[in-house]
Amino acid sequence: MDFNDKVVIITGASSGIGAATAIHFSKLSAKLVLVARTEKNLKRIALYCEKAKGIAAQSIVADVKVESDVERIIKETIENHGKLDVLINNAGVVGMGGIKNSTLETYDKVMTTNMRAVYHLTQLAVPHLISSKGCIVNISCVSGTKPSTMALAYNISKAALDHFTKCVALELAPDGVRVNSVSPGFVKTNLLKNIGLSEDQLELFVKNVVSNIPLKKSVEGDEVAALIGYLASDKAKGITGSSFVLDAGTLLR
Ligand SMILES: NC(=O)c1ccc[n+]([C@@H]2O[C@H](COP(=O)([O-])OP(=O)(O)OC[C@H]3O[C@@H](n4cnc5c(N)ncnc54)[C@H](OP(=O)(O)O)[C@@H]3O)[C@@H](O)[C@H]2O)c1
Repeated sequence: MDFNDKVVIITGASSGIGAATAIHFSKLSAKLVLVARTEKNLKRIALYCEKAKGIAAQSIVADVKVESDVERIIKETIENHGKLDVLINNAGVVGMGGIKNSTLETYDKVMTTNMRAVYHLTQLAVPHLISSKGCIVNISCVSGTKPSTMALAYNISKAALDHFTKCVALELAPDGVRVNSVSPGFVKTNLLKNIGLSEDQLELFVKNVVSNIPLKKSVEGDEVAALIGYLASDKAKGITGSSFVLDAGTLLR
């Protein structure tokens, strides 16, 4: 399996699952377009990717919540590469709280990042993906399926993303464009650190979560990256509108 000459956009590539995915695709000779807000981290991952096969990775510093930034992601990709083969919608944020104790500000931030931005970027990418008979992989979460009380806006953003994946897969199937999603269980990344948990709180949280996972392990970023790589490859040419769970058994409970 390789992505020789394939142009792959990965949003949220500066950290966690997105960074692991960038590194995975760099080893498969992809022409990468890496997107995130934090230039320093993005450039570090881009340099790391370049070392794999000597193929320069394009970095686009952009906030996917900002419409003009989303337009720039597609414009600069096409200016640089002339085409787009794979879109990986990975950038995402968590906002804490349930219906009793969350704010509309949290709702707006989470839904705008996790769903509205995906809608917009996908809309702009679709003409190019139709031309290349390309594909889309959306990064969802088991919390889009399994109800829980801690992060309502996040959970419903991922439920919406799952349905978006299926609807768009159906719409684009006649064009030869495949659309799938991956739903990881708990992965140790910066996602929770970014909501302001201290190291001690984080350690306790991770311990509690992992003790409740049937396989007693968190999921690794490179496991998720490998699944994304498979879904984006020709080996998955018969797969569209599917959601792949990678959760160490979390949904069994
Ligand atoms: N970690 C888990 O347990 C887990 C489980 C299931 C699903 N997921 C999903 O996996 C995806 C990646 O999360 P992660 O766990 O790898 O978290 P992470 O380490 O915090 O990475 C999130 C990435 O998204 C980028 N990002 C966030 N907001 C952005 C914005 N407005 N514009 C552009 N980039 C933005 C961040 O970069 P900048 O801050 O530099 O912009 C970063 O590169 C998310 O969609 C998340 O919901 C995570």
